[in-house]
Amino acid sequence: MSTTTDDLREQVRRRYAESARAVIERTASSGCGGGSCCEGGAGKFGEALYDAEQRGDLPEAAMLASLGCGNPTAVADLNEGETVLDLGSGGGIDVILSAKRVGPTGTAYGLDITDEMLALAQQNARDAGVTNVHFLKGLIEQIPLRASSVDVVISNCVINLSTDKPAVLTEIARVLKPGGRIGISDVVAEDRLSAGERSERGSFVGCIAGALSRSEYEGGLEAAGFERVSVEFTHEVADGMHGAIVKAVKTTERKGLPIVEPAVKAGCC
Ligand SMILES: C[S@@+](CC[C@H](N)C(=O)[O-])C[C@H]1O[C@@H](n2cnc3c(N)ncnc32)[C@H](O)[C@@H]1O
Repeated sequence: MSTTTDDLREQVRRRYAESARAVIERTASSGCGGGSCCEGGAGKFGEALYDAEQRGDLPEAAMLASLGCGNPTAVADLNEGETVLDLGSGGGIDVILSAKRVGPTGTAYGLDITDEMLALAQQNARDAGVTNVHFLKGLIEQIPLRASSVDVVISNCVINLSTDKPAVLTEIARVLKPGGRIGISDVVAEDRLSAGERSERGSFVGCIAGALSRSEYEGGLEAAGFERVSVEFTHEVADGMHGAIVKAVKTTERKGLPIVEPAVKAGCC
């Protein structure tokens, strides 16, 4: 891995550690909390994207720590007893909401690189009274879970912060069961914007410069083994850049491989 990649990841970790500390010290409004870590202005990130009922169900610190660009729990179909994984779980808001949806027979995992966020999420889960949750420290590029062990992967404004997006998409496909699904909120650029134009609109740690375009997202998911891929823009966060809902289903069989009939096999080699 190049130094630049390491540096960028460290900048991301530091920024979100600062955000978690601001919430713990209840100084979110003066620090990098309350949705202000990602650049785009009021109402485009954070707690405003959750409905009143969901907000009423959550500890105040979980709401304050909300830094997402959507509400993946509103778009992912979650059923009783399922296993859900939230990539870049931050203060735990979507893990807590998912845990409630899958119920005591289900499990919600949160994965995050930042110790301060993990500690905050654990406290928020305790305050919310949910016990079917596990917070894991690690990278979304190397998910510390077994293959085919997860029904649904969600994520809220995190994949744009990855320095290796193909690795993230491949890892999502690995941990999902065949037929497993994703419901992701992320910042996504219109195809007309070059990488340079995306960088002009905001920083990497601010969730803008690292955003994939719609066709890059679609192509990346298809290459990783997903079908029924959709990327739907919900609200503009900068010129030509949008909060978006990304959905897809892991293929039940590997595509692109020839189907070898027994007769052909017998005749071959
Ligand atoms: C913009 S915040 C979103 C947090 C949360 N999903 C939410 O909606 O409030 C990004 C989170 O992703 C985490 N993160 C960023 N890059 C990561 C990586 N490569 N692996 C794991 N976690 C990462 C950060 O520590 C931070 O908690």
